Amino acid sequence: MAISKSMAQALNVQFNEELNSAYLYESMAADFYAKNLPGFAVWMTMQAGEERTHAEKIHRYLDGHGERVFYGALAEPQATWKSPLEAMNDALGHEKHISSCIHKLVREARKADDIATESFLAWFVDEQVEEEASAQSLIDKLEMVGDNKFGLYQLDKEVSVRRQQDA
Ligand SMILES: [Fe+2]
Repeated sequence: MAISKSMAQALNVQFNEELNSAYLYESMAADFYAKNLPGFAVWMTMQAGEERTHAEKIHRYLDGHGERVFYGALAEPQATWKSPLEAMNDALGHEKHISSCIHKLVREARKADDIATESFLAWFVDEQVEEEASAQSLIDKLEMVGDNKFGLYQLDKEVSVRRQQDA
């Protein structure tokens, strides 16, 4: 079944949002590497990779409906963050923004009675719940560690291992 041009366009916007997310997280990873936090850097690099797979999913969905994607401009991401906590708070804020974009798309699909797109988006709705929860859990840990440098050193090691096990 074909999808409407406006639905295709809205999905294309989301395609670019996902690529922008990847770009932001790569920038956070670069900042973590620069600040000797290789574990957080690995975590963010893997997160960026996930965002690209999200874009890829949308790409394939549009292809499957005889549509194509268009690459928009990427926003220049912030380059440095004061602390890992500030970066993770920004990451959580960004994920909340993405969740609201996805929810908006779901509403649009419902309005258009586009059941296929609504079903396609269900995966993203669930994924966003996980994304927000994993960012929040890192924030909780960073808050626990506070200004303790040794704690941060330990946490940096832990997040890298955990993330690679989960992948
Ligand atoms: Fe995403």
